[in-house]
Amino acid sequence: MERLGDIAVIEVSNPPVNAVSQPVRAGLFETVAQAAADHQVKAIVICCAGRTFIAGADIREFGKPMLPPSLPEVINRIEATAKPVVIALHGTALGGGLELALGGHYRVALASARFGLPEVTLGLLPGAGGTQRLPRLVPFSGAVDLITSGRQIGAAQALDLGLIDKIAEGDDARSAGLDYAKVLIEESRAPRPTSALPCNPPEPGALDAARTRLAKSARGQIAPQKALDALQGACDLPFAEGLTQERALFLDLMNSDQRGAMIHAFFAERQVGKLDEIKGIAPRVIQSIGVVGGGTMGAGIATSALLSGLSVTLAERDSEAAERAYAAVTGLLKNAVKRSKLSEAKYVQIKAECFKTTKYYADLAPCDLVVEAVFESLDVKKEVFGKLDAVCKPGAILATNTSYLDVNAIAAMTERPRDVIGLHFFSPAHVMKLLEVVVADNTAPEVTATGFALAKTLGKVAVRSGVCDGFIGNRILSQYRKALDGAVIAGASPYDVDRALVAFGLAMGPYAVSDLAGLDIGWATRKRLAPTRDPCEAYAEFADRLCEMGRFGRKTGRGYYLYAEGRPTPDPEVDAIIAAERTAKGVKTRPLSAQEIVDRYMAAMVNEAARVVEDGIARRPLDVDVTLLNGYGFPRWRGGPMYYADRVGLDKILRDITTLAAEDDFLWQPAPLLQRLVADGKTFSSLNT
Ligand code: CAA
Ligand code: NAI
Repeated sequence: MERLGDIAVIEVSNPPVNAVSQPVRAGLFETVAQAAADHQVKAIVICCAGRTFIAGADIREFGKPMLPPSLPEVINRIEATAKPVVIALHGTALGGGLELALGGHYRVALASARFGLPEVTLGLLPGAGGTQRLPRLVPFSGAVDLITSGRQIGAAQALDLGLIDKIAEGDDARSAGLDYAKVLIEESRAPRPTSALPCNPPEPGALDAARTRLAKSARGQIAPQKALDALQGACDLPFAEGLTQERALFLDLMNSDQRGAMIHAFFAERQVGKLDEIKGIAPRVIQSIGVVGGGTMGAGIATSALLSGLSVTLAERDSEAAERAYAAVTGLLKNAVKRSKLSEAKYVQIKAECFKTTKYYADLAPCDLVVEAVFESLDVKKEVFGKLDAVCKPGAILATNTSYLDVNAIAAMTERPRDVIGLHFFSPAHVMKLLEVVVADNTAPEVTATGFALAKTLGKVAVRSGVCDGFIGNRILSQYRKALDGAVIAGASPYDVDRALVAFGLAMGPYAVSDLAGLDIGWATRKRLAPTRDPCEAYAEFADRLCEMGRFGRKTGRGYYLYAEGRPTPDPEVDAIIAAERTAKGVKTRPLSAQEIVDRYMAAMVNEAARVVEDGIARRPLDVDVTLLNGYGFPRWRGGPMYYADRVGLDKILRDITTLAAEDDFLWQPAPLLQRLVADGKTFSSLNT
């Protein structure tokens, strides 16, 4: 604490994000009491050193015994101080940090500051008064939105809502806090405890409506519903009772599996980029991107880059295709304007200055990095890379967005294999968070580092993958799809499978996803791999039958489902095709329970993932978790397949595999790594470094 005249300044300094760890709590508890007791102090300013105001509780302390003082105790002491307490905010005031700010009497923020209560994204609710104080400051609907979505808002919106009192000019929060405190002293302003304000009333029926909405949008998650219970308490109970109820709900969640899973996901996403091979290596500077091919993926990749401030030149086969690609990209940007992700002025500027399409590869010459997204054919890709190598400037990185093909073979078409890498985006590329950075035999570490840096620029999570058919994600997907096709041959319908896995927590069932992506994509891969297919493999043929009938999914109005009026409905014709295959194969069918389907899905996923780790394609189990969470809709509140496997027990997964081997001993060979871990009594997490 520092005393400047009659103002006490308490500055928190706990790099990197000023998390409110036990020493910070103890320090604040003590210094606030000191400042309150100092007769010369007329006002107190709480601010933070470094890049941000408190970004929340110290997540590393979760799951360990909680040491006093608790955050609610600290905040209650701040609020009870008989002198005005000014909270000076910059950076990201999140979680417990924002709750602490709500316990202050006056809040001033820099214009760049952001605010949020992200607890639900960690399987928690704001447990230090946030659910009780926020609806006393902002409209009830605003509190419900912030608390149950975990989203961040900027300073202007925070001011509008009543969350803060003032936006300060400049870039020094501490000075802004001091200036504000001086004014408060001059005006003899009294402390203004938030808890003394009445709770803003909800619109009639608002809480019930929120419950119904969240039951759908946050299906399977406990925290958002409990947060609504706490908010209900803010309406119905006196402040102190509401606070007690909130804390009890918070502690329940703290002990839940979902909290453990979501915090695993949080740290895994930060660990995934920590790789010895790129430690301390500076990435190349990327300002302009080339994209070759402006179809589904090329258009999405170009949009993602443009939205992140990069300039883009997109090359297509001919003028007509280039025009189509231009329309597709500008259409996606226009949608971003509609959804307030991009301002109209920025849209106009991007169109005028940052984006062009062309039919000439030579126009890609000045680009720092070029992503190829042409048809999934090795011959076409090899030809494209030969041409790119000839025109691109020295030092430019050449990347392929292939889903399955051999990046080494593609790199071999160039004189610069060190500059070639796979950058596997997911569809829609301007939305999906995952980027697999596929490192080929000769890729330079600096180029790998640039892949990771580019992901950060694009707001994506990058995972390192080695080269194999399908890399981490699609290789695992291929195996669990075979296992699910096996369930269908054994007696479940695709609709049973989708239902069981949606109930497990997936956003969509795998067969509905295939319809969305287009069944022809998987068909092309199966045809490509047919010559090398082992004759012992029990190959389910019904997907090929559908494709032969032109049933490619949503785009043709029919796939596994029928899409009359856009909504998927099960189709008896599909059941008949499957029944015919079972009869031809002499299969005696049996009903499969939802649990059996889930167990089979998880066993296949975990078994192949263990191989992917053992082969070094994924460096660690956590890389698999991050891949499946961000690219394949695996429920975040289950932490990822490897985390899930550790929780249910690797011995249980191995037992399931052994049982399933009785049905199909080709598909269900246990992975050696899984067997070793079970024998040694270890978990996948023991391999996460
Ligand atoms: N506790 C502990 N460590 C944290 C942390 C936290 N709350 N927030 C971030 N960190 C660590 C990260 O793990 C990372 O560590 P390493 O460098 O060792 O990997 C480091 O701080 C920097 O984090 P990022 O790489 O994420 O940096 P960024 O600049 O991209 O983002 C951020 C900064 C926006 C603050 C982001 O880290 C973030 O969103 N953090 C989590 C915020 C949060 O969820 N707070 C609520 C916690 S729950 C709570 O507060 C409830 C309660 O009262 C009990
Ligand atoms: P697409 O068929 O929608 O688009 C391909 C585009 O490439 C077409 O517009 C075509 O005109 C253009 N093209 C073909 N040859 C070209 C050449 N020589 N020069 C310039 N342009 C050329 O295909 P899609 O779906 O965009 O896939 C592209 C790549 O991305 C493939 O390798 C695919 O495996 C991969 N991918 C696809 C995903 C998906 O969900 N569709 C997901 C992740 C990767």
